[in-house]
Amino acid sequence: MPDWTLLEWIENILFYTALYVLLWNAYFLTVNRGIPNIRTAPAIRKKMADFIRQDMARKQKDQYVIMDIGAGNGDLSRFMARTFPEARVIGVEIDKLAYWKCCLYGRLAGLKNLSYRNEDFHKTSLSEADAVVMFLSWLLMNDIRKTLEEKLSPGTLITSNKFPLGGDWKPEQALDVDTLYFHQKRLYVYHS
Ligand SMILES: C[S@@+](CC[C@H](N)C(=O)[O-])C[C@H]1O[C@@H](n2cnc3c(N)ncnc32)[C@H](O)[C@@H]1O
Repeated sequence: MPDWTLLEWIENILFYTALYVLLWNAYFLTVNRGIPNIRTAPAIRKKMADFIRQDMARKQKDQYVIMDIGAGNGDLSRFMARTFPEARVIGVEIDKLAYWKCCLYGRLAGLKNLSYRNEDFHKTSLSEADAVVMFLSWLLMNDIRKTLEEKLSPGTLITSNKFPLGGDWKPEQALDVDTLYFHQKRLYVYHS
């Protein structure tokens, strides 16, 4: 054991905690573009699927396309691919490690209607999407909104966990969802 006084212990603990927080944030800012890799709560996934089901019934497409922009480790996109085997699900994830996990877990789950792109969704085509699901960031929403305005086809369903699009976009629904995740309680629904 180091021969430290109580004050030195406190000082060291504070120093390493601050260093950890700093490195963790630096990691997110560089690798995940400032958005932590946290999955959408199961209860919110189910609500997203309810809106997609309604939209599918309304649009009657031969093949409905669901895009998860910022797929994380792929929990939400796998859920969508399992729930809608008749649809095509595409996850877009910028972080290589998370993208590899998505591909591996998707393959292990045997989901043939699921694919991933290791890309920045700001730079990839989103025009084929009939529905976009997302759980991103309030701080970066101005840029995200601009990308959606530029890239989505008219009439695309957008469901956003926790964060409203803001700007001139008024949600068709802002739904309170009872989840076990204390930081995820609201789902916003729009059409482009
Ligand atoms: C909060 S997670 C959401 C995971 C999943 N969509 C869900 O809701 O369960 C957000 C993910 O978006 C990714 N991301 C952030 N900016 C991105 C960008 N510009 N292009 C693609 N992925 C991005 C991050 O790397 C992170 O893994």
